[in-house]
Formats: sequence, structure tokens, C-alpha cells
Amino acid sequence: MFSTKLGQALLLAISIKGCSASLINTPTIPGVTFTDVQAVEHQNYSLLAENTNPEQFYDTTISFCNITLWYTHQGWNDNIAVTVWIPLTGWDGRMRGVGGSGFSVIANLNRLAPGVGNSSATVATNGGHGHNTSSADTWGLDNSSRVNFMYAQTFFAVAEAEAAVIGKSVITDMFGASPRYSYFDGCSTGGRQALMLAQQYPDLYDGILSGSPAINWASFVPGMYYPQFVMNQLQHYPYPCILDAINNASIIACDILDGAVDGIISNPYQCNYSASAAVGRTVYCKDTGKMETITESDAEVADKIWEGPKSSISNSQLWYPMSRGTSFSNIANVTNNGTAWTGAPFLIAVDWINRFVFQNANYPIAEMPASGFEDAYDLSVKAWRHVSSTDNPDLSGFQAAGGKLIHWHGLADQQIFEEGSRDYYNKCMAHDPLLREYYRFFEAPGAAHCGVSGLIPTDAMSYLIQWVEDGVAPDELPASTPDGAMKRRLCEYPKVAAYRGGNVTLESSFHCQESF
Ligand SMILES: *[C@@H]1O[C@H](CO)[C@@H](O)[C@H](O)[C@H]1NC(C)=O
Ligand SMILES: *[C@@H]1O[C@H](CO)[C@@H](O)[C@H](O)[C@H]1NC(C)=O
Ligand SMILES: *[C@@H]1O[C@H](CO)[C@@H](O)[C@H](O)[C@H]1NC(C)=O
Ligand SMILES: *[C@@H]1O[C@H](CO)[C@@H](O)[C@H](O)[C@H]1NC(C)=O
Ligand SMILES: *[C@@H]1O[C@H](CO)[C@@H](O)[C@H](O)[C@H]1NC(C)=O
Ligand SMILES: *[C@@H]1O[C@H](CO)[C@@H](O)[C@H](O)[C@H]1NC(C)=O
Ligand SMILES: *[C@@H]1O[C@H](CO)[C@@H](O)[C@H](O)[C@H]1NC(C)=O
Ligand SMILES: *[C@@H]1O[C@H](CO)[C@@H](O)[C@H](O)[C@H]1NC(C)=O
Ligand SMILES: *[C@@H]1O[C@H](CO)[C@@H](O)[C@H](O)[C@H]1NC(C)=O
Ligand SMILES: *[C@@H]1O[C@H](CO)[C@@H](O)[C@H](O)[C@H]1NC(C)=O
Repeated sequence: MFSTKLGQALLLAISIKGCSASLINTPTIPGVTFTDVQAVEHQNYSLLAENTNPEQFYDTTISFCNITLWYTHQGWNDNIAVTVWIPLTGWDGRMRGVGGSGFSVIANLNRLAPGVGNSSATVATNGGHGHNTSSADTWGLDNSSRVNFMYAQTFFAVAEAEAAVIGKSVITDMFGASPRYSYFDGCSTGGRQALMLAQQYPDLYDGILSGSPAINWASFVPGMYYPQFVMNQLQHYPYPCILDAINNASIIACDILDGAVDGIISNPYQCNYSASAAVGRTVYCKDTGKMETITESDAEVADKIWEGPKSSISNSQLWYPMSRGTSFSNIANVTNNGTAWTGAPFLIAVDWINRFVFQNANYPIAEMPASGFEDAYDLSVKAWRHVSSTDNPDLSGFQAAGGKLIHWHGLADQQIFEEGSRDYYNKCMAHDPLLREYYRFFEAPGAAHCGVSGLIPTDAMSYLIQWVEDGVAPDELPASTPDGAMKRRLCEYPKVAAYRGGNVTLESSFHCQESF
């Protein structure tokens, strides 16, 4: 039933006509002017390939034609590079687009290698700026300290679509045949780009794989700052070891809510553990090199972070909070600056609030007043939701185009609150009860952002290809911890992997059912 074979053979034995820029006729795109095209052949080129979904690195050797096209948007004076890597032999007839991370449209061109290694022609774009994932400091504001809407629009809504059009055109020139199927693969910002393509450019890709997507951007990105705001308001910065111990205590308390004691909270939204239960406990602390005691103030910080930001008017949730069982280390990071333990905010959240929300690179975010977080959150949503959030539940265009979408998200994502993905899928389901025919969502127990730990899908792209080309829709996705010690199938939401006995490391000890 769960064969991992890829789709049926595509075009056979089509070879590239040559690796030369002279073969390329740049496509006509309104408002776009191409400024340069280069093509360089690489035989047996060794590099460190970067997988996106999940993020994994491995050494590989590939032979490909490295094609770069530069273009500008009329009147904008931008300079965008689209890269297409084409296997020199044995092309499988497919195109694969690869997405970015954080503030980068593509984090690293070595992300093109896994596609090429699998015989696909692969495409990515830099969106006109560099590969810095953590900061938009070179492009968020213009030289008059105004938001650079041109770059923002390119980043959020345009660059990936142009890259797909350019990629298809280049591939057609190089082989004399257009790609039979096109796939997009992205995690985090790439996962948002993936959903953006399904929502806004439904004809460009046949299959879309979205991991840990940065959708709801205007809401969750300020939300990533909330833990720092809590600590600043309370003027208390727990040692990282203390927050880690509190999180561990929540795992011990809530592990059983899913029926299996496996060190993973698979049912995090039923976990109401309060850190006050851990007050007085002592832990060995690697930060101080001695035993430390969990205090009332420590517990207050953790409980406020788990509670999440609330409206001062209605007391309703502004956005989803961090869930229990999720590491505090990224967005509730605390560090010793040489003289004191203090907050070390996640740079993407600071950059967003400062540059895009307040248009002030030097906004004194650490001195935000008590009303400051809600103000920043509200302005972010009002000014940016429509450009950045990628939360339109109407996928009828994608359905009409025959596209297929696989979306997964880790239940212990320490950067992007997983409930935002669940919320989006539920809205799509409410919009179209036949959603499952073209869109399937999988929650990954214990998985951190883009899969550095927990049960992460091992081969989602193959399942997507099978769905698109053979019509076999995935009800389950195989998953594994990165070290391979634990294996389990991810169940199509809203089903869950319920324990039926046996060793929790084994796939056979769980089965998909309606609820725990
Ligand atoms: C690339 O490697 C293959 C297999 O080892 C070899 O046959 C081929 O000659 C190499 N090509 C070049 C240009 O080095
Ligand atoms: C591909 O070509 C571009 C543009 O010439 C260059 O910047 C890049 O380093 C090349 N990639 C490799 C792997 O050589
Ligand atoms: C990204 O930008 C930040 C902020 O300017 C800087 O500290 C960091 O070194 C940059 N990273 C890279 C890889 O250039
Ligand atoms: C600011 O001006 C400099 C010099 O003209 C230019 O190189 C740079 O790209 C500009 N920065 C932005 C964000 O427009
Ligand atoms: C929390 O649990 C993890 C995983 O078992 C362990 O590596 C870590 O040391 C624990 N942290 C503390 C502070 O006990
Ligand atoms: C946690 O709180 C929610 C909301 O009040 C409730 O529905 C759920 O039953 C509680 N879970 C547990 C395990 O007590
Ligand atoms: C926490 O902040 C420190 C200081 O900025 C940084 O070196 C470290 O990488 C951060 N840790 C995490 C997990 O982000
Ligand atoms: C370290 O953090 C403390 C408390 O936030 C602050 O008062 C101090 O100025 C910081 N020191 C340095 C060197 O940044
Ligand atoms: C592509 O190649 C990588 C590395 O060999 C492999 O992990 C992956 O499963 C392959 N298949 C697809 C469809 O990407
Ligand atoms: C479960 O399986 C793992 C891996 O085979 C093994 O190391 C472990 O001892 C087993 N646990 C139990 C309780 O049998």
C-alpha cells in the first residue's frame, strides 16, 4: 500500500542540448527586463547538499549545467538572480522549485542539489537580496528609513512565481521539451512560499510540499517576540537550564495524554501543566555549573509564555502561544552578556517589528511599554496581513488546476507556532469539505522546526510525486527521529497516531485513528 516507488517513467533519455547561454531565449514577463544570462557546466561537482524538508545535509557529487539569469523590474532598479541547475544526463522530465528560510528567498544554492541528485531540473531565486536568513537589514528599509515595499512584495508574493516561469522556459530551451511535472519544496519561509504559490499562482506547480510554513506571518512573527516581552516586563530572565527543566517537567506531566509514554507530547493542546508545580525543585544547571532552584518568578515567566499574548480589550488570545513540550531556547533565549543574564531575542522577530512594523531600525524594543506588544501586534496585522500572511483558505484555483498539496508541521516547533498551521487547514476544510482530494495535512509529534528533532517525515516528496503522477493520495507519511531510533507514521490530520501497545520506538506500536 505504501510503496515508495516514484511515479512512472517520464520522458526517457532526453539529454540537454548543451550548456550554453546562447540556447536560452529569455521569457516575456510584464515589467521584467533581463540583464544577463550565464551557463557553466560542472562535471562531477562535489558539494554539501542541503535538503529542505526536513533539513538535512549530505555530501554529494553531481553533474549539471549551472544557469543564472539576472533581471530587474522596470523602474525598481532591483537585481534578481534566478538559478537553474539542470542534470547533464538522465533528466526525469520534472522541475523542482526550492524555497527559502527566514528573510532569505533561498538560503543556500546547495539546496538545489537534492533535486539534481534525483535527476530533476531545479530552480531557485534570491529575490534580489542576499542569503541572510536572520535579518532584512540590507533591504527592509530604504535609505530614507521607509519600508522598502518593492523588496517586501518581491519577497512575499512575486519572486517565486517569476522563478517558476523562468525555470520552465529555460528547461524548455535546454531540452526542447517543457517539464512534464513541476514540484515545489519548501520549509519555514519556503513552506509559506509553497502555500503562497497554491493560493496565488495555482497553475505553476502540480505538486507542492510545505513544511513548517511561516504562514500567518504578520501574526506569528510578532508572537515570536512575546517571550522576550514577558521577561522584560517582569524584569526576570530565567537561566536557560531552568526553562529547559520546566519544559522537561511539562513533558513528564503530559506525555501520557496521548496514551504512550515515549518522551513526546503528541497531544500538546490538551496539556495544561503549570510551571508553578515545579517551584522549589532543584536542577543541575550547565549555565552556572551548580545546582539551581526553580523560583516563583521563573514559573511566572514560563506560564505567561505558555498562556500567550492576549487582547487588553477582550482578553481573547492575540495569537497562538508556544505549546508545552517545545524548547524555549530559540524565542525565549536568555544569555549572559558579560555582566548579567538578559534576553537574547530572535533576530527575525526584532527585525520585523523594528523595520517593517515601526519603520525604525533603532526602535528601542527592549524598552517597550506594557501596551507595546499589543500595539506592535495590531499594527503588524493591520498593515501587513494582506501582503505577508498567506492565509487565504480559498484554494479553488489550485483544485481546478489539478494540483496536490502536502503540508506538515512539527508539534514541538520552537519558532513557528504549530497551531497556526492547524488553524489554516481547518479554515480550508470549512471552505471546501472536499479538501482532502487535493490537500493533506500531517502533524509531526515532537518535531522541532523543519525537523531537527522529533518524528519527521522521511520521504514526503516521493509521496507527493506518487500522488500527482499515480493518483495515490497519502493517508500516512513515514517518519523517523533524525537518529533513526524511533519510527512512526504521521497520520493525516485530524487523525492521530494512537498507541496500541509494544515498544514505542516501533512503527507497528501505533495506528492512525480519530482521537487518542
Ligand atoms: C565523472 O565521473 C564519472 C564516474 O566516476 C567518470 O566516468 C567521468 O569520466 C567523470 N567525468 C569527468 C569530466 O571527470
Ligand atoms: C553558478 O553560477 C553563478 C553565476 O555565475 C555563480 O555565482 C555560482 O557560484 C555558480 N555555482 C557553482 C556551484 O559554481
Ligand atoms: C545577517 O545580518 C545580521 C544583522 O546585520 C548579521 O549580524 C549577520 O552576521 C548576518 N549574517 C550573515 C550570514 O551575513
Ligand atoms: C542605499 O544607497 C546605497 C548607495 O546608493 C545603495 O547601494 C543601497 O542599495 C541603498 N540601500 C537600499 C536598501 O536601497
Ligand atoms: C531536559 O531533557 C533533555 C532530554 O531528555 C535533556 O537532555 C536535558 O538535559 C534536560 N534538561 C534539564 C535542565 O534537565
Ligand atoms: C486543559 O484545558 C482545556 C481547556 O480548558 C480542557 O479542555 C482540557 O480538558 C484540559 N486538559 C486536561 C488534561 O486537563
Ligand atoms: C541565544 O543567544 C545567544 C547570544 O545571542 C546565541 O549565541 C545563541 O545561539 C542563542 N541560542 C539559540 C538557541 O538561539
Ligand atoms: C547586559 O544586560 C544588562 C541587563 O539587561 C544591561 O543592564 C547591561 O547594560 C548589559 N551589558 C552589556 C555589556 O550589554
Ligand atoms: C532525493 O535524494 C535524496 C538524497 O539522496 C533522498 O534523500 C531523497 O529521498 C530523494 N528523493 C526525492 C524524491 O527527493
Ligand atoms: C525498544 O526498542 C529499542 C530499539 O530496538 C530498544 O533499544 C529498547 O530496549 C526497546 N525497549 C523496550 C522497553 O523493549
